[in-house]
Amino acid sequence: MTRPAGAGAPSIDTARAAALSVMQRAYAPYSQFRVGAALVGVDGRMFAGCNVENSAYPAGICAERSALAAAVAGGVTQFAMLVIASEADEPTPPCGMCRQALVEFAPALAIVSCTQHGGQAEWTLATLLPQPFTPAALTHHQ
Ligand code: THU
Repeated sequence: MTRPAGAGAPSIDTARAAALSVMQRAYAPYSQFRVGAALVGVDGRMFAGCNVENSAYPAGICAERSALAAAVAGGVTQFAMLVIASEADEPTPPCGMCRQALVEFAPALAIVSCTQHGGQAEWTLATLLPQPFTPAALTHHQ
């Protein structure tokens, strides 16, 4: 977890730099596709994650869920922004499993995706995952 010097939440620039930096730590020997993520809590704390692959392929985890796990372990469950960085030529949106993992905590999360070459795209999680399955569904089944 990092908190930039001074008060206030990290800027997009700060989170983008963190996502690009942690991308270099990705363990991606099978896909050769490195991804980094910086998840910013509403309290201004920022958590980084990268994809961690495995020789048993399904045991790998995406950067976004890696960052989410770090945040929850750090006691943060309310989020303001997610910044993704990948090695793709175009900004990549989060995969479906990561969308589902994130919607549990932040249905309207602002998501920014960037490339190493200055490309950038923005979405909200609500637009990427319409009609989500949420915890509320579990309370309505009886
Ligand atoms: N990956 C991510 O980390 N985030 C995504 O949103 C898409 C895919 C990772 C998983 C795998 O390690 C590699 O990228 C190729 O799919």
